[in-house]
Amino acid sequence: KLMKVYVTRRIPQEGMKILSASSVCEVSLWDSDEPVPRAELLKGVQGTHGLLCMLSDKIDAELLDAAGPNLKVISTMSVGFDHLVLGEIKKRGIRVGYTPGVLTDATAELTVALLLATARRLPEAVEEVKNGGWTCWKPLMMCGYGLSGSTVGVIGLGRIGMAIARRLMPFGVKRLLYSGRTAKADATELNGEFVPLDTLLAESDFIVVSCSLAPETQGLCDKAFFSKMKKTAVFVNSSRGAVVNQEDLYEALTSGQIAAAGLDVTTPEPLPTNHPLLTLKNCVVLPHIGSATYSTRGIMAALSVQNLLGGIQGTEMPSELKF
Ligand code: GLV
Ligand code: GLV
Repeated sequence: KLMKVYVTRRIPQEGMKILSASSVCEVSLWDSDEPVPRAELLKGVQGTHGLLCMLSDKIDAELLDAAGPNLKVISTMSVGFDHLVLGEIKKRGIRVGYTPGVLTDATAELTVALLLATARRLPEAVEEVKNGGWTCWKPLMMCGYGLSGSTVGVIGLGRIGMAIARRLMPFGVKRLLYSGRTAKADATELNGEFVPLDTLLAESDFIVVSCSLAPETQGLCDKAFFSKMKKTAVFVNSSRGAVVNQEDLYEALTSGQIAAAGLDVTTPEPLPTNHPLLTLKNCVVLPHIGSATYSTRGIMAALSVQNLLGGIQGTEMPSELKF
């Protein structure tokens, strides 16, 4: 008898091909780029053996109960897993697959692009050219901040944080600081200094948040955090929106407490188009595109399908989350 799997979104063909070629399962696909409505999802997962989901799908007790006792695996097409309620998943003996590693380079590149775009005010500058605000070359026009000679602070020097740091150092960065739970052996390659968070905040010209969202990082970047930063410092977040208290960030950006912010992630996603942060010239907001290269998304899709197929068959999953 065929196993049933549910795929919560249209995914790149690299994944669909493997799924179609497999003879072990019957696939229900929410064949859209838009998220499946919750009620639809709760119905769709009934009796399934495997679920392939996105980072925007909340996988909690309600959903697991709706799926029922057949469910063997949840495969998320993401490296982040804060949308999965792991306690509930573990209780039911369900395995979890995710996609670490394959999106590290793409996400690091995007973070560097966002940092430079924010520090050198690219969106604002492009806008000036288009709206006629640019009338002639001016010595004081559109000045920003450069990486050369700077101190960069990375919060969460994991796979992605390290990849970001490796890319930033050749811009002439003078010091690399990082903070987190533990010192990382990897960091010695870049002469990275493991420092208390307060030191990182006080001494960095660029602060890059690259930690995962967990109880200890939720709301980490708040009023106290921003108040310890240099007034000329640029803040960049490409991890999860909930690491930042957005009201406090807005206050820091408008009061001149910090220079600018670049966000690839927010809460919620998307931000309402009338959100205060979107009115600020010194805040660059992107639509969570860290891993969005054609090849990376293809590889993520393939890996999450392989995780799904391994999980429903009770065999090896190429990238299983141990929790
Ligand atoms: C992106 O944010 C991911 O978790 O893959
Ligand atoms: C800038 O274009 C310069 O020539 O200084």
